[in-house]
Amino acid sequence: MVKAMKNQFKVDELEENIEELKELSEDVSPAIYLSVILSLILLAIFILRLYNRWTVHCPVDLRCEDKTIIVTGANSGIGKATALELAKRGGRIILAVRDRHKGEALARSIMKKTQNPNVFAAYLNLASLTSIKEFATDFLSKEKSLHVLVNNAAYMGPRASTDDGIERCFGVNYLGHFYLTWLLKDKLRKCAPSRIINVVSDAYLKGNLDLDDIAMVKNYNIYGAYARSKLANMLFNFECHRRYVSDIVISMAVQPGAVSTELMRNWPGLTGQLLRAMGRILFKDPVAGCQTIIFCACKDGIRDQSGKLFYNCKTLKIKEKGRDKQLSKELWNKSLHLCHLDSEIELEEEVVIPEKTNGQEVRSRDTAAVKAAEKASKIPQHPPKPAAEAPKKAPEPAKKLPEPAKKPVEVKKPEPVKQPQAEQVKKQPEVPPKLAPKPAPEAKE
Ligand SMILES: NC(=O)c1ccc[n+]([C@@H]2O[C@H](COP(=O)([O-])OP(=O)(O)OC[C@H]3O[C@@H](n4cnc5c(N)ncnc54)[C@H](OP(=O)(O)O)[C@@H]3O)[C@@H](O)[C@H]2O)c1
Repeated sequence: MVKAMKNQFKVDELEENIEELKELSEDVSPAIYLSVILSLILLAIFILRLYNRWTVHCPVDLRCEDKTIIVTGANSGIGKATALELAKRGGRIILAVRDRHKGEALARSIMKKTQNPNVFAAYLNLASLTSIKEFATDFLSKEKSLHVLVNNAAYMGPRASTDDGIERCFGVNYLGHFYLTWLLKDKLRKCAPSRIINVVSDAYLKGNLDLDDIAMVKNYNIYGAYARSKLANMLFNFECHRRYVSDIVISMAVQPGAVSTELMRNWPGLTGQLLRAMGRILFKDPVAGCQTIIFCACKDGIRDQSGKLFYNCKTLKIKEKGRDKQLSKELWNKSLHLCHLDSEIELEEEVVIPEKTNGQEVRSRDTAAVKAAEKASKIPQHPPKPAAEAPKKAPEPAKKLPEPAKKPVEVKKPEPVKQPQAEQVKKQPEVPPKLAPKPAPEAKE
């Protein structure tokens, strides 16, 4: 009897404990769920961070003492890291920058860090055809050679236009580099084997290139405009390869991956702030981001790699969109037209002017016909040709650079044409339009 009572008591006690446990678990379960969810989010961030930051460091340790290298957009991010790494390897580096004072300070700092006295800053504003022409003229008059051209600079941000009235993303990221490459191509040919490295992005896959709507009047959005410019860079790389590989000028596209830089500095609002914060946490640093550019600039025996896309120091398959032969030819001709180089449109190639005349697309094999068609068609983003050429005085030769200028610089000053609803970009460094690459005195220390 006593035993049965004891058992009953134990059972009651157990039941009470179970009830208490149930209540406790009900109290605690939201906290458990929350911590599980938080752990999963942290794990996802960790995996994403690992994935984004995965970098193959340049396996080539060749130096580049005998090479002259231009890096556009060298004042920050990937361009800055590229310039530093190449200077470490002994290259003669031209920092093509749009803020000359910042560029000169950077050149001095790189020279000090690397003990390489051949680092120069030169003014280049890719949003101005005039500035590009001045940069190229000055470079060609002062430098004996050019072995590597790194087309790296980029703009990403709200709608804005270049000095020549072109949509800014397209104008800076693509057209500016097109014109620069065009002006320097003979030097590259002369110094063959030489290389053109176009810094692209996998955003090209999301880009849509409508040559009838360069101003992006229909559908402007920040990412869309950037993606379109990167698609244009991909097609440009393909076309450069097609045109220059026989001269042993090798064209390579480099996809750096997701890199924490200042690229999104102009992205407004909360989205911009979130993206920048995300970039700082998840993306790799610029030194990791420039490794494939270094690889493409320094590796030997890459003639058969021309026209290819590189990522993490390996080739990556280019999707159909990025190697559309017809579109790349049309883009090339359109670009010649936008850079006032219509006479350079090749006669043997079928020229397609995408603008429509009386609702009909004009196709021609004849440059004269092309010009006539252009005249007839209305091209909102094409600035009128300058009425007169304004010759400017030849730039002074820099202290250490060979070959002083022989010819006066011819500078065309096209009347700026504003795009519809174009806004001004926040940052427009005031820089006198003149090159002055000169080594800083610290270099000699
Ligand atoms: N960051 C990424 O995750 C990522 C991913 C894929 C591809 N990329 C590509 O990598 C390249 C380098 O970008 P980043 O990430 O290093 O960005 P970044 O830090 O913003 O560097 C861009 C550079 O371009 C220069 N620039 C902008 N407008 C210019 C103009 N009108 N004329 C001359 N230079 C101009 C900037 O000069 P200021 O400093 O004077 O403005 C800056 O130095 C770009 O081609 C970009 O598309 C980047």
